[in-house]
Amino acid sequence: MPRTVFVLDFGAQYVQLIARRIRELGVYCEIVPYDTSWNTLSLRRPAALVLSGGPESALAEGAPGMDEAVVESGLPILGICYGMQLLAREVGAELVRLDHAEYGPATLAIRDRETPLFDGVPEESRVWMSHGDSVVVLPHGYHALASTARCHVAAMGNPEKKIYGVQFHPEVVHTEYGRTILENFLRKIAALGHEWKLESFLERSIEEIRARVGSDKAICALSGGVDSAVAATLVARAIGKQLTCIFVDHGLLRQGEAEQVLTAFRELLHLNVVAVDAREAFLRKLHGVADPERKRVIIGHEFIELFEREAAKIPGVKYLVQGTLYPDVIESKTPQSKAGEKIKSHHNVGGLPEHMGLSLIEPLRSLFKDEVRELGRALGLPENIVARQPFPGPGLAVRIIGAVTAERLAIVRGADAIVREEIDAARLDPHPWQYFAVLTPVKSVGVMGDGRTYANLVAIRAITSEDGMTADWARLPHQLLERISARIVNEVRGVNRIAYDITTKPPATVEWE
Ligand code: XMP
Repeated sequence: MPRTVFVLDFGAQYVQLIARRIRELGVYCEIVPYDTSWNTLSLRRPAALVLSGGPESALAEGAPGMDEAVVESGLPILGICYGMQLLAREVGAELVRLDHAEYGPATLAIRDRETPLFDGVPEESRVWMSHGDSVVVLPHGYHALASTARCHVAAMGNPEKKIYGVQFHPEVVHTEYGRTILENFLRKIAALGHEWKLESFLERSIEEIRARVGSDKAICALSGGVDSAVAATLVARAIGKQLTCIFVDHGLLRQGEAEQVLTAFRELLHLNVVAVDAREAFLRKLHGVADPERKRVIIGHEFIELFEREAAKIPGVKYLVQGTLYPDVIESKTPQSKAGEKIKSHHNVGGLPEHMGLSLIEPLRSLFKDEVRELGRALGLPENIVARQPFPGPGLAVRIIGAVTAERLAIVRGADAIVREEIDAARLDPHPWQYFAVLTPVKSVGVMGDGRTYANLVAIRAITSEDGMTADWARLPHQLLERISARIVNEVRGVNRIAYDITTKPPATVEWE
């Protein structure tokens, strides 16, 4: 267990981003609920603490607090936004409610050039603010380190106690020197070096898996996605042919994907792979089904049934490998959390049934997606698998609005391949997070050559995002859109019109279904 920076989660939108940034700086970091007790934390090699932002006002009645012993622990602490206000309140500072909350960019002016927190940060720089309260008077031992035009104390610190706070968000890219500030906190205040390395994680995991599995057998469902691919490869590194991978081809993957997975796993990595061609079976089950939620449920059930049937053919299996990632296991107990409304029932090969009586091996449980990709590269997985875009478990079925047929699958698959090929070739900076085609149920009139057509409308979706939770539509160059449009109507039969989706998430979602 490496020394760990714990982020106390007060319900910040950016909490995962804070943890990712810290790991990018080579320090292991985990997110814990805001009210985790010092007793619990102290057992887990804490090296420093970060208090996240949150939607509440520190001045509000019943504003979420934390175990006092955490503040008294003597560990270096960095409070961000709400986290800073909370620290300020705990140590007896005076806070006021602003008449107008401050959101967005501001110029940070440094007032204390000596503080290690701002080493390498110019006198003035751009930061990203989002707050409704402001610290006005600091108690003994605390200094105001920086200000903005509207915020007198935009950063504060007590060098003796190693307690610091910033009113802005150092974790977002809009804060010009955010990375420097976080790095200063880790290296110069908390004295942490580059202690978190994927190579050592890899070695440790391989040893642990080997010791745990012994001479028993394990199985893993390959979905075609990055997570299950990396999990399987890692486990195979540890136990070789004692692992059998089961790849259910539901026929809803993108062009060439099923072949790429099989080639990589069988020929390149020499893994044990059982491939099940279930394309017909899935089409039959989906026949006439237009409702998105029903499609998702049917695909999920069918997948599990086929997987179980194959698994039953392998005698003496004790373990099930799953590609669960850290964002799926973060215990979210934020102050405002309530039972989340179900928007879509996400189907992943993750949710395999408990009644199979297998013990779980989840080697990626502590990793973020970018780390999983990096690990995949270290394990020798080819780029066409490692760099794969996020793709829904129910695959192209949720990119065909209305019932799924072989013909409509061919249309959406062909259009999707062109969208990906053209956007990849354009080498955009920033590269969109996800881009694909959606086959709508709309038909419209067109003209091709001398003839009238009445054919399908394909929508293109390309988004920028940090994590898929929120998204903006990508401002693709017009020439690129033009090329994509021309190629789809010329090369994909049954399409005579293209639209570009210009909605953000929220209010829309990334996928249409
Ligand atoms: P939405 O459409 O909910 O998508 O805005 C957010 C992100 O999740 C992906 N997605 C899925 N991923 N299983 C998955 O593993 C699913 O069933 C699923 N549905 C959507 C989507 O592609 C986007 O990246």
